[in-house]
Amino acid sequence: MKDQMKVLVIGSGGREDALVTLISRSPLVSRVYCASGNDRIGQRPKTHCLPKLKADDLWGLRGFAKSNKVDLTVVGPEAPLVAGIVDGFEAMGLKIVGPTKEAAQLEGSKVFAKEFMARNGIPTADFMVFDDPERATKYAIANLPCVIKADGLAAGKGVIPCKTEEEVVTAIKRIMIDKEFKESGNKVVVEEFLVGEEATFMVLTDGWTAIPLLATQDHKPVYDNDEGPNTGGMGAYAPAPVVTPELAKVIMKTIVEPTLDGMRKEGRPYRGILYVGLMIVPTPEGPKPMVLEFNVRFGDPELQPLVLLLQSDIVPVLVAIADGKLGEEDKPSSLPFADARVTDEKVQWFDGAAICVVMTSGGYPGSYEPGKEIKGLDKVAGMEGVEVFHAGTRLENELWKTNSGRVLGVTVRGKNIPTVIDRAYQEVIPQITWEKVHYRQDIGRKALTRHGIQIRMGL
Ligand code: AMP
Ligand code: GLY
Repeated sequence: MKDQMKVLVIGSGGREDALVTLISRSPLVSRVYCASGNDRIGQRPKTHCLPKLKADDLWGLRGFAKSNKVDLTVVGPEAPLVAGIVDGFEAMGLKIVGPTKEAAQLEGSKVFAKEFMARNGIPTADFMVFDDPERATKYAIANLPCVIKADGLAAGKGVIPCKTEEEVVTAIKRIMIDKEFKESGNKVVVEEFLVGEEATFMVLTDGWTAIPLLATQDHKPVYDNDEGPNTGGMGAYAPAPVVTPELAKVIMKTIVEPTLDGMRKEGRPYRGILYVGLMIVPTPEGPKPMVLEFNVRFGDPELQPLVLLLQSDIVPVLVAIADGKLGEEDKPSSLPFADARVTDEKVQWFDGAAICVVMTSGGYPGSYEPGKEIKGLDKVAGMEGVEVFHAGTRLENELWKTNSGRVLGVTVRGKNIPTVIDRAYQEVIPQITWEKVHYRQDIGRKALTRHGIQIRMGL
């Protein structure tokens, strides 16, 4: 494999800070560009940010990659993938990690994803699709409790759980009549409300061979005990004990493999990072993993703890994905009807666990004031096993200021989940402050409860 590689990372949040940190660690890489990046990303080793080149400027990104002889591009957020960035790069012979526009429909259209799962026997909540608000309302009211989902991208906000008739009426009005998520709300999925424990299961795949990553668990609601409105994600930890090794095998067999096989057979092979959002539903036969959603990129903040746990160099794996050669044998496209294969030979993990606690501006996910001075980052810099990823900050006259809703991802690696929770909450987070800072106090608690470990989180 080529060394002295130039890699372009697209995006500008905490996930991209983690991705850049991970990629810059590779001895094969001499330069990392990040479009558009942020002030902290620009300080990472070998890294140069391109603040004017935004993630939606597909032409500009492709032009930059071509004229700067970028060897590999890795896409952080979903929007450029759904808009077809991979197709455009590949048409010019540029290597890029991610699904084509057609394959990115797994995230780009919830209607496509649900109908795909139904045709391919992949376990998911029962559902109906509607383009008529009246019919949708009638069906939803007759099937309470339910979840109403806007078809298209809605920055994680287009999913509304409903327990009452009033909630259904409001949800349908917001999505289909007021068009809060624009044309993403032309259609809705109304689905059965599942009860269980959520988990995130991500795989790296060239369309045929799949490498499972450690299972993680995100915390979407803004307040402790999963209360309050949903956010992009308030914290994550890995490995998530709800996904036992046996359950991971079931997820691969009943969900990941049929998804990859189905996508190949339907003529839109899926290459890149496949994020499976799961509900692990208790049943008399044991826990049953069911798909809540597919995403076509790494989770944010789920990637952050994984970056601290990943021991092997990810870059050769990313190149193999872009080349369609993750497996040892022929390219997947030459065997469209062969079964998907699983390997974990190519990634090694440190023993132990990691947690990421997201610190946000007070008021998020509603309105908040940016520009608050962040104090204490110098006190945690260089702490062993600690990395603070920056999601929304800006450096102004050598002072760090808040610059968005999610601000920092305090990430800690250690021996096990109780120790990383303790360290994050007792040693690291108390050092960092700003006016109206908010974070959840209970990230990782579900993992402790599961193991009957006494909770002593300094609450
Ligand atoms: P999604 O973006 O589809 O994953 O939905 C966002 C969040 O809504 C999930 O993380 C779940 O907490 C919740 N959710 C989505 N679908 C369902 C469902 N069918 N039953 C219960 N909760 C759901
Ligand atoms: N943390 C959830 C997501 O990345 O979609």
